[in-house]
Amino acid sequence: MHRCLTVLLIVAFFESHLSVEAVNAPPGQTLGQPWPMPQSYQSYPDLLLLNSATFNLSPVGHSCDILQDAIRRYRLIIFGPSNALKFRPKSNVNVLANLDVNLMNECEKYPSLEMKENYTLTVTSSTANLASPTIWGILRGLETFSQLVYRGNYGEFLLNATKIVDFPRFSHRGVLLDTSRHYLSKEVIKENIEAMAYNKMNVFHWHIVDDQSFPYQSRKYPKLSDEGAYNRFTHIYTQNDVAEIIEFARVRGIRVIPEYDTPGHSQSWGKGQKGLLTECYSQGKPNGNFGPINPIVNTTYTFLEGFFSEVQQVFPDKYTHMGGDEVSFDCWKSNPDITKFMQQHGFPGNYSRLEQYYEQRLLNIMAKLNAGYIIWQEVVDNGVKVRPDTVVEIWKGGYQDELAKVTKKGLRTILSSCWYLNYISYGGDWTKYYSCDPWDFEGTAEQKNLVIGGESCMWGEYVDSTNVISRLWPRNSAVAERLWSAQSVKNPDKAKPRIEENRCRMIRRGIRAEPLSGPGFCSQEFNSIP
Ligand SMILES: *[C@@H]1O[C@H](CO)[C@@H](O)[C@H](O)[C@H]1NC(C)=O
Ligand SMILES: *[C@@H]1O[C@H](CO)[C@@H](O)[C@H](O)[C@H]1NC(C)=O
Ligand SMILES: *[C@@H]1O[C@H](CO)[C@@H](O)[C@H](O)[C@H]1NC(C)=O
Ligand SMILES: *[C@@H]1O[C@H](CO)[C@@H](O)[C@H](O)[C@H]1NC(C)=O
Repeated sequence: MHRCLTVLLIVAFFESHLSVEAVNAPPGQTLGQPWPMPQSYQSYPDLLLLNSATFNLSPVGHSCDILQDAIRRYRLIIFGPSNALKFRPKSNVNVLANLDVNLMNECEKYPSLEMKENYTLTVTSSTANLASPTIWGILRGLETFSQLVYRGNYGEFLLNATKIVDFPRFSHRGVLLDTSRHYLSKEVIKENIEAMAYNKMNVFHWHIVDDQSFPYQSRKYPKLSDEGAYNRFTHIYTQNDVAEIIEFARVRGIRVIPEYDTPGHSQSWGKGQKGLLTECYSQGKPNGNFGPINPIVNTTYTFLEGFFSEVQQVFPDKYTHMGGDEVSFDCWKSNPDITKFMQQHGFPGNYSRLEQYYEQRLLNIMAKLNAGYIIWQEVVDNGVKVRPDTVVEIWKGGYQDELAKVTKKGLRTILSSCWYLNYISYGGDWTKYYSCDPWDFEGTAEQKNLVIGGESCMWGEYVDSTNVISRLWPRNSAVAERLWSAQSVKNPDKAKPRIEENRCRMIRRGIRAEPLSGPGFCSQEFNSIP
C-alpha cells in the first residue's frame, strides 16, 4: 500500500518535474564507472536519460542466437524486472533512444582461447554505438554499457557520454571451482558464471572430480559416479546438467574446461573402476589401500583413452585440464610389481621417471584425440616432454622463478599461485590479489607473451553451495581487473571506489557478494526492493 503510493508520487513527479540533476553515490563509491577498467576510458559531463519503457538495444550488423539472448538478458540487467516508470522529460534533457549494436562479422559458435574480445563503445549526447568484430567483443561491450547506467535521485536511469576502446590484456581469465570436496549445485555454478560475466572473466575451470568424490556421470563408465559420488542420485552431474552449464557459459562467452586430475588425486575413480589404482603393500602383501593410478598395466591406458575420448565429445573446448599435481610415491614404492617393472625398463628406483612414463603415455593419448591440454606445473618440473601447445598452470610459491623457467622452455603458462581465494583471514584482502602481476618475473618480451593469463582457485574443503559465491566475490573482482586491464592500472586507492561500486552492482543483480573493506552501505542492498 505504502509502496504503491510512493510509486504513484514518483510517477507524478516525473510527469511534471523531471530534469537532470547531480546524483550522490554512497560515500567511497563511484557512480556509473566500469569494472574492470577499459584500456581506454573517457567520460564526459553530458548526462543522458534512458526511458526503460522504450529504450532499445538494436542489432545493426550481424546477429545470431547469442546476440538475441544477450539483448534480452541485458535489458533485464539494466532496468531490472520492475515496471517501467513513465516520464515526460523536460526539453533540456537528452534522452537516449537506443544503443546500436554493430556485430561486424558472423558469430562464432563457441568461445575459445583464440577468441577476440575487442570492442568500442561510444555514447555521445544523442547516440550510442557498440561495435566489435566478434560476438565475444559485443558481449563484453554490453556488459560495459550496462555498468555505465545508474539510477538518479528519482529512480530514473542515467548515463554519461562516454568513449571506450577496449580489449583484454590476457586471453585466459579463469576461476577454478572444486566440485569434489563438496558438491556444488548447478544453480550455484551458474550464479558464479554470471558473476564471471559481470567481471569479464572467460574460463570456468571445473575441477570436477578428485580423491573425495566423482560426481561426473560418464556415459561409457557410469560406475565411476555410481560408486564414486557422495550420492549416486543427488550428488552427480548428469550429461544434461553438464550440457546445460556449458550452454549457460557459452552464451556469456565463457569457456568450460574440465579437470580430470591423475595419476594422484584419483581415489574416487578406484571405486567404480576396479584395477585402475595401484595396490599398496605392507610386509609383502596388499594391505587393502590404494595409491595413484597404476601406471604399469595396459588396461589403465585402454580405460583412459575410452574415458578421455568421451570427455572430448562432451566438452567442446579444445583444452582439457589433465592435473598431474602432488603425486605421492609411497604406494608405488611398496608395490613389488612396480619395482620389477622399473628394473625391467632400466630406471630402478626413479619414481619421477615412472611418473614421467605415465604422463607421456597419457599425453600421447590426448594428442591422438587431437585434444589440447593444461597441466599443473609438476608435470614439466618432473621433466615430462609435452607438446609445444601445452599450457602449464603455476600454483606453487616461488612463482616468479617458475614463470621464467616455463616460458624459457617456450611453453605457455597461466598463473594461480597468488590467487588462492579459498584462504581467508579477518579484514579486507582484495588489494593483495590486486597487486599480484603475472609479468612480475625476469624475462624477455617473448617470454612475457607466453603468459596467457591466470586463474583464481576456490578449493572446496571449506565451501559448498552455502558460501562459495560470497567467498569468491567480490574479492575475485580484483583478479578480474588484473587480468583484463592495462598493467598500469594498479593503484588500489584509485580502484577502491570503483570496486566498491562494482560490489554494490553485483548485489543489485542478485549476486551475494560479501563486504570488501569494512563498514559501508549500498544504495540498494541485497534482496531489497529497488
Ligand atoms: C557524469 O555527469 C555528471 C553531471 O555532469 C558529473 O557530475 C559526473 O562526474 C559525470 N560522471 C562521470 C563518470 O563522468
Ligand atoms: C584488438 O586488440 C588487439 C590488442 O589486444 C589489437 O592488436 C587489435 O588491433 C584489436 N583489433 C581490433 C579489430 O580492434
Ligand atoms: C603394453 O603396451 C605396450 C605399449 O603399447 C606394449 O609394448 C606391451 O607389449 C604391452 N604389454 C602387454 C602385457 O600387453
Ligand atoms: C630420474 O628421471 C628423471 C627424468 O624423469 C631424470 O631427470 C633424473 O636425472 C633421474 N634421476 C636419477 C637419479 O637418475
